[in-house]
Amino acid sequence: MATSILITGGAGYIGSHALVEFLAAGYRPIVVDNFCNSSPDVLRRVEALTGFPVVWHRGDVRDEGMLNAVFSQARQEGMPIDCVVHFAGLKAVGESVAQPLDYYDNNVHGSVVLLRAMDRAQVKRIVFSSSATVYGEPLSLPYTESHPLAPANPYGRTKAMVEAVLADWCASDAARTAVNLRYFNPIGAHPSGKIGESPRGTPNNLFPYITQVAVGKRAKLSVFGNDYPTSDGTGVRDYLHVSDLAMGHVKAVEYASRVAPGCFAFNLGTGRGTSVLELIRTFETATGRPVPYEILARRPGDVAQMWADPTAAHEKLGWWASRSIEDMCRDGWRWQSQNPDGYAECPTI
Ligand code: NAD
Ligand code: UD1
Repeated sequence: MATSILITGGAGYIGSHALVEFLAAGYRPIVVDNFCNSSPDVLRRVEALTGFPVVWHRGDVRDEGMLNAVFSQARQEGMPIDCVVHFAGLKAVGESVAQPLDYYDNNVHGSVVLLRAMDRAQVKRIVFSSSATVYGEPLSLPYTESHPLAPANPYGRTKAMVEAVLADWCASDAARTAVNLRYFNPIGAHPSGKIGESPRGTPNNLFPYITQVAVGKRAKLSVFGNDYPTSDGTGVRDYLHVSDLAMGHVKAVEYASRVAPGCFAFNLGTGRGTSVLELIRTFETATGRPVPYEILARRPGDVAQMWADPTAAHEKLGWWASRSIEDMCRDGWRWQSQNPDGYAECPTI
């Protein structure tokens, strides 16, 4: 019988790609999402893409009663939830500086409420969406999981706090397992072009900005700084294909079910850095679309460069990223060009 897993935030950018991979791997995912940054249309598209029905509930992870009902219902159906994959949260760094309490409430309080509901339902395993941002300014590169955690903004601090909560949660019961996945920079979209990233308003991150310039929604890209100590002066990041990242969650759930209980952290990245200008040029070559840009001042709070050491994920989870920057550009462009207005104005499937 298929194993049930609860996916919070399963209609979001990364969650929806993970949902596709869990369905393909034979799991029975149950989505809880309040759609504050997504839409139910995403789930209909996942159903059309995979040919599997998606079980979902509109709800907020801070609503313990709703979560209790979701866990109970799965148990009554004879398919109790075995593991939770926790994507739900807010993720914009600038917004977290302006509205820190929203971030502590949603990301930290929401995780605590979720753990309480898990305790009540006696669910012992969780995979958590952490971020490379927990490391802060790199003391050495690549980051390994033992690099000190020194997040530089409220968003990053919420991720480090939840990791600390999960460590204490595991320490208080010898049967509990938490797997913290520290993502580097996921970009691109499912190769089908049916699901992808659909930021509300002006994109904060580089790749969706590039695709919106390429599709003609924005005149030009602003490159934030060309005076960093990097090969061409622009910022360097470890971009990974969102479908590779999604697969990391299937591997993490498998790991959580076979490993001796405990609290673990893994970097999910490629181990390679790409500069802003390299990404622009690769996008232009891979898609044939020009990306006009201008150089502006550095963005406050940015680090010059960062990339992962993904060795632990390779050795322990059996995961590695296989898709190239060209693949990320082609797939991201397919999504953007076929859905110029994201989910909002796409025909409902
Ligand atoms: P997203 O905003 O696309 O997805 C988050 C989903 O969670 C959305 O569908 C949203 O509606 C839902 N949600 C938010 N708050 C909720 C709540 N209280 N209750 C129920 N649902 C709620 O973001 P994403 O890019 O898919 O990121 C997923 C997770 O990964 C987040 O926790 C994010 O912080 C983390 N992360 C993302 C990145 C990245 O580059 N995208 C990098 C590192 C970590
Ligand atoms: C940002 C967040 C990080 C989060 C990650 C993924 C900050 C400080 N950090 O990381 O916490 O985990 O997104 O959601 O916001 N750039 C431009 N022009 C743009 C946008 C970005 O030149 O319009 C540059 C940046 O200066 C950086 C690179 O592109 O060098 C990548 O930026 P971005 O996509 O925002 O990711 P991060 O800064 O790595």
